[in-house]
Amino acid sequence: MAKEYQFPEGFWWGSATSATQMEGAANEGGKGKNIWDYWYETEPNRFFENIGPEQTSDFYHRYKDDIKLMSQIGHNTFRMSLSWSRLIPNGRGEVNEEAVTFYNNVIDELIANDIEPFVNLYHFDMPLNMQQEGGWESREVTDAYAEYAQICFRLFGDRVTKWFTFNEPIVPVEGGYLYDFHYPNVVDASRAAQVAYHTMIAHAKAVEAFRDCEIKDGKIGIILNLTPSYPRSQNPADLRASRIADLFFNRSFLDPAVLGEYPEELISILREHGQLPKTEAGDKELIQANTADILGVNYYQPRRVKAKEHLPNPYSPFMPDWFFDNYEMPGRKMNPYRGWEIYEKGIYDIMINLKDNYGNIESFISENGMGVQDENRFIENGEIQDDYRIEFIREHLKWLHKAIEEGCNAKGYHLWTFIDNWSWMNAYKNRYGFISMDVETKERKTKKSAYWFKKVSENNGF
Ligand code: GAL
Repeated sequence: MAKEYQFPEGFWWGSATSATQMEGAANEGGKGKNIWDYWYETEPNRFFENIGPEQTSDFYHRYKDDIKLMSQIGHNTFRMSLSWSRLIPNGRGEVNEEAVTFYNNVIDELIANDIEPFVNLYHFDMPLNMQQEGGWESREVTDAYAEYAQICFRLFGDRVTKWFTFNEPIVPVEGGYLYDFHYPNVVDASRAAQVAYHTMIAHAKAVEAFRDCEIKDGKIGIILNLTPSYPRSQNPADLRASRIADLFFNRSFLDPAVLGEYPEELISILREHGQLPKTEAGDKELIQANTADILGVNYYQPRRVKAKEHLPNPYSPFMPDWFFDNYEMPGRKMNPYRGWEIYEKGIYDIMINLKDNYGNIESFISENGMGVQDENRFIENGEIQDDYRIEFIREHLKWLHKAIEEGCNAKGYHLWTFIDNWSWMNAYKNRYGFISMDVETKERKTKKSAYWFKKVSENNGF
């Protein structure tokens, strides 16, 4: 049957998750604590319905059945992350053999099911010990991270060829150092800039270590949440607002990771406001020499901005938001179950930008998805009828398809996420999975969208 949207041969169909959100067993198997375990212990009330990360999806014990499910719903690829504090409980030093066995088993099981593992090294989960040394504010922690990365390449690089240094590295900067939604709950832009900068240094050191390991057919990249900044209008003031939002939230990582250098305008804004991070001789060369081979793109919603309406309070802490206000476009399409705008064309705009301005780097959609609260209200005949999710995926895929037809180098699509998982402060508030999970019993049930996706994967289009 002729399909309207046929994707290139070998297209990656699958989903993504992270260690903390999926594994559970937070205090088992010799795992050390990370900042999420610690923050939950000290402030459980900050988490939706007081649910913490101890159990999450219990993938640690159920990975075999879960991987079978992945294969049943058409996955040919799956992105997971390794937990740094599981593998190296203190962040540096001794490697935990139980963790090595666990990750070996998961990787082998995926491969046995014809699912290629994509492995990410860091998904918001700083080992507590490293945080106590200053986290990404500390230059030494970037060395510890590079050692951890090298250990991972050596342990698993014989079977894993797609590697990623970080998932959404801007998010811990925003959450932990600007807007108070991640530990350590600091509000300080110059510390935020240092954290962002050191994350990039850590990335470059890991890429350098990767090149030394000479993994056959190996590729290494980074996963960024690229959120196009759309100006309210073409008025120069609105255009400036959107350009600066783009500098802070997209280009702060995209430019150094792909082009090997920071945007001049970002540097000059930070300089003007006294927020530049500390650097060391040789950093420029390090970043330049270690750009990404492949880029994962996470896309959920656009950012709409307009020129600032009021001057910022001069006594308030310096913030990126000093340069723009958020803009609610009248008539925007909403996901009413989550409060986010849905703008499918954003995926196309991102890809065209990568083609035109970033050397058309090999990329894929590494996260896209729709969070919905109380999905059980959509159960019919025992199955969640998540037609809204099918529509969401389909409409995004159409735009991705158009981008590919126009020459964009996109190789796959991963939904966030495989199974409803623990989403940081939101815990289980919004459900994103192909598979639902009962938080108490951990019982899994396949949603309608999973069966739809299986067909899309089998037909390589729709
Ligand atoms: C992303 C993040 C994921 C997940 C998702 C849905 O930004 O990478 O960890 O939480 O949002 O909320």
